Amino acid sequence: MINPKEIRKNFPIFENNPNLIYFDNTATTQKPRQVIEKIKEVYEKYYANIHRGVYKISEISSEEYENSHKLVADFIKCKDWREIIFTRNTTESINLVSYSYGLNNIKKDDKILVSYMEHSSNLLPWRFVCKKTGAKLEYINVKNYRLDLDDFERKIDEKTKIVSITHVSNVLGTINPIEEIIKIAHEKGALVLIDAAQSSGHLPIDVKKLDVDFLVFSSHKMLGPSGIGVLYGKEELLENMEPFLWGGDMIKDIDFDKEYLNDLPWKFEAGTPNIVDGIAFGEAIKYLNRLGMENIEKYEQELTKYFLERFEEFSNKYKYVMLMGLNDYKDREAIFSLVFKINPHIIGKMLDSYNITVRTGYHCCYVLFRHLDLYKYGGSVRASLYIYNTKEEIDLFFEKLEEIVKRFKE
Ligand code: ALA
Repeated sequence: MINPKEIRKNFPIFENNPNLIYFDNTATTQKPRQVIEKIKEVYEKYYANIHRGVYKISEISSEEYENSHKLVADFIKCKDWREIIFTRNTTESINLVSYSYGLNNIKKDDKILVSYMEHSSNLLPWRFVCKKTGAKLEYINVKNYRLDLDDFERKIDEKTKIVSITHVSNVLGTINPIEEIIKIAHEKGALVLIDAAQSSGHLPIDVKKLDVDFLVFSSHKMLGPSGIGVLYGKEELLENMEPFLWGGDMIKDIDFDKEYLNDLPWKFEAGTPNIVDGIAFGEAIKYLNRLGMENIEKYEQELTKYFLERFEEFSNKYKYVMLMGLNDYKDREAIFSLVFKINPHIIGKMLDSYNITVRTGYHCCYVLFRHLDLYKYGGSVRASLYIYNTKEEIDLFFEKLEEIVKRFKE
């Protein structure tokens, strides 16, 4: 069971900002004391470079850093922790796959499939691969705020080499049926990359069961520090891929004209990594494990249901607002993009004067707004909730939103 009031006690940000209503969890989440204290612990007690020292504190740092990989591996149910590569963030993880796998395996006239609901980070790297190789990029349609699976089946063919899709839309909140997408893609011989940036801290994920080829996400969106991202890849794919970055620690030995690559995952972690944040990420995983991902999912559904009920009341009174997303709480996360005729940044600023934080604009999904013909409104006001948010906060959000829109009616 999730008790948000108890959870809040673990988050110093709420102690220091008692009136803060933090509704921008899709952009980044707040950090529990356990994560913050771990960062301090590493610097104060055993900070040293990893994989390089024969001395004790370097051994402790190395072991802790490796242990975080293991915690992440268990968290998404990998076959082997060496399939977990730490990067800077989701964006870097996708770039790693696009450069290292894409540029070497995708050829002229091949096809890459993305959807209209992708974040720029899951669109631009593939557009770059197409530019370099002569492959074709196609978009899967979004209909009624869902991925159009008929359109997907029409577009996927034996020329399709990669299907790169988000698990949960950072604008619509829609949870995509990735199990089905992966199955269909594999039948056509295509690999699948899942952008789990918005799902990894919200839903249980089982990469073995999904049989997904690559899955990427960021620590900072799941209670961990910023500057650490994850690339999960199937071992046989990673073994056959070229390194993305070259330098120290990704090699075992170098002769005058030949290098001997290091084992996974270090082959893809060149240079001194983000040691401390990588270690502290492990604490975020432990925190989520203690709460239980099934419980988190259930609690967020409860918040979603409540938000949708309150939105219905609100939209009955103020007709010029629309929700970009599903009305059913089951196939979506607690990410709510509201479109007004008033500029979203103005509403966002006014909400901030009540200590309510939301994100405003296009949320790096310009193509989605264009596709849905909503670009002209300047984007949306997005409220995104997490484990420490409460129904009382939702009530306050709508109360203040009402005050704001009333001012524009006068
Ligand atoms: N991708 C993050 C968001 O949607 C930054 O806000």
